[in-house]
Amino acid sequence: MIRNLAEVLAGAEAGGYAVGSFNGYDYLTFRATVEASRELGFPAIIAFGAAYLKNMSVEEVASVFRQLATRTSQDVVLHLDHCKDFAAIVRAIKAGFTSVMYDGSALPFEENLARTAQVVAVAHAAGVSVEAELGSIAGGDKSHEGGGEEIYTNPELAKRFAEETGIDALAVSIGTVHGLYKGEPKISIETLRAIDTVVPVPLVLHGGSGTPEQTIKQCIAHGIRKINVNTEISVAVLDALQTSLSDTVKQAHLSQLMLGEMDVMKQVVIKYMRMFRP
Ligand code: 13P
Repeated sequence: MIRNLAEVLAGAEAGGYAVGSFNGYDYLTFRATVEASRELGFPAIIAFGAAYLKNMSVEEVASVFRQLATRTSQDVVLHLDHCKDFAAIVRAIKAGFTSVMYDGSALPFEENLARTAQVVAVAHAAGVSVEAELGSIAGGDKSHEGGGEEIYTNPELAKRFAEETGIDALAVSIGTVHGLYKGEPKISIETLRAIDTVVPVPLVLHGGSGTPEQTIKQCIAHGIRKINVNTEISVAVLDALQTSLSDTVKQAHLSQLMLGEMDVMKQVVIKYMRMFRP
């Protein structure tokens, strides 16, 4: 069933788990997540980054999503990931997205707060959830989303930000990176614990790719209820494509290769969906 983010995160809070948010770029990459959700019996978040608006329009994504949602009896959310543009957010809400992320993390605190509150007013009037970000996460290898200077989220500012904006979920910076880690991940569970103690909304972990399972479990134990995965999906599919193109399948048809890509992505999604449960 189609849900908004607040609804599925309430279930995650009650069950002590995190819901996976998997970026897709076309019909088959969205379908991979929906099929994984059906096979495992878990809710899922289909994420479409504003960075991919050249691949599809929000109207195209929303209409594909409505059809795909009929393939599973699980709760599914359509989420606009990392959007800085108010007009694009309004367009996504009108198209049928059930969740939007307004990313004002590069702005001064007061400006991020004021703009996020404006997005919340518009989105909530339409029954759509809002995620926002405070602090800034760094960029790792092979990320398409980049990353800025690493600034850990300040727990007291996060509390005020969540209370005054009325957001449904807050993305935090605690040491994960967008992309693959260049060395050993250094995740500050202490910072997360301090944020979780004072912030009244579910927390979001960006930069899921390559984060060790033990760290993921600790993050879930301290309030992370949504975990984003993007880069590892792309890397896994590209690796598989390279192998299949270089050996036995020279006669293959593109339609079959594309179905193979969907299966590879589905395996990545299933791995993380399992990891995010107790
Ligand atoms: P990764 O690319 O590191 O998985 O991060 C994804 C993400 O945070 C999307 O917002």
